[in-house]
Amino acid sequence: MTLNRDQIVESTAEFVKNTLKDAEGGHDWYHIKRVWQNALYIACREQKGDQLIIELAALLHDIADAKFNNGDESVGPKLAGDFLKSLSVPEDVITHVVQIINHISFRKHHEYNSFNSIEFQIVQDADRLDALGAIGIARAFNYGGFKNRPLYEPAVHGSMSAGKQNTIGHFYEKLLLLKDMMNTKTGSELAEERHQFMVNYLEQFYKEWDGLS
Ligand code: ADP
Ligand code: NI
Repeated sequence: MTLNRDQIVESTAEFVKNTLKDAEGGHDWYHIKRVWQNALYIACREQKGDQLIIELAALLHDIADAKFNNGDESVGPKLAGDFLKSLSVPEDVITHVVQIINHISFRKHHEYNSFNSIEFQIVQDADRLDALGAIGIARAFNYGGFKNRPLYEPAVHGSMSAGKQNTIGHFYEKLLLLKDMMNTKTGSELAEERHQFMVNYLEQFYKEWDGLS
C-alpha cells in the first residue's frame, strides 16, 4: 500500500508524538509542533522549498537528540530513516530528510560540511526561532533545571557575560548569537523581535538579581 503525502505526514506526526511522550519539556512534542508550524510559515512566506521534505524534517529533527543519548549523534538520523523506510517513502526524500537531521544542530555550524538546501535552511530557522523569545527563555531554564544547573553565577571578574555552566551563561554562548545566524529573510525578521525580548529580559534579570537595597 502506498501512502499519499498527507498520510505520510500524519503517520510521522503520530510516531513522533508517541516517541517523545516522556521527553524533557524543551524538547517535547510541543517543541516539534511549533517547529513544524513555523517551518511551514517560513516556507510559505519565502515561497520556497519542498513541503514534504520540510514537514518530515521538522517533525523528525529531535527524534533522538544526542544530548539525551549519551552524546551519540547517530541515533536520531537512523531512527528517522528507518521509520520513513517503514512507510515506503521514496529513497531520495529519506536521504534528504536524514541529511537535514544530521546537520541541524547549533553545535555543528562550525564544522565544515558541504551539505545545504533551502529545506534545511528553513527547518533550521524554525528550530532556532524556538530557542528565542519567551519560549526560548522557558526552554533554557527548563534544560538548566533538568541538568540541575544554577540560574546564574556572576562572573569572577565582574564581566556581564557569566561563567559557563549556568543558564544565564547559555544566553551569551548561544541564544544571543542566533539572530545573526538566521538563513532566511523571514527567519531574521522573526528572530529580531524575540532577540530584543531576551535582551530586555536580561536587563530586568540583573536588576532583580542583587535584591533590593
Ligand atoms: P541545537 O540542537 O540546535 O543545538 P539544542 O538542542 O542544544 O539546540 O537546544 C535546544 C534547547 O535547549 C534550546 O532552547 C536551548 O536553549 C536549550 N539548551 C541547550 N543547551 C543548554 C544549556 N547548556 N543551558 C540552557 N539551555 C540549553
Ligand atoms: Ni529542536
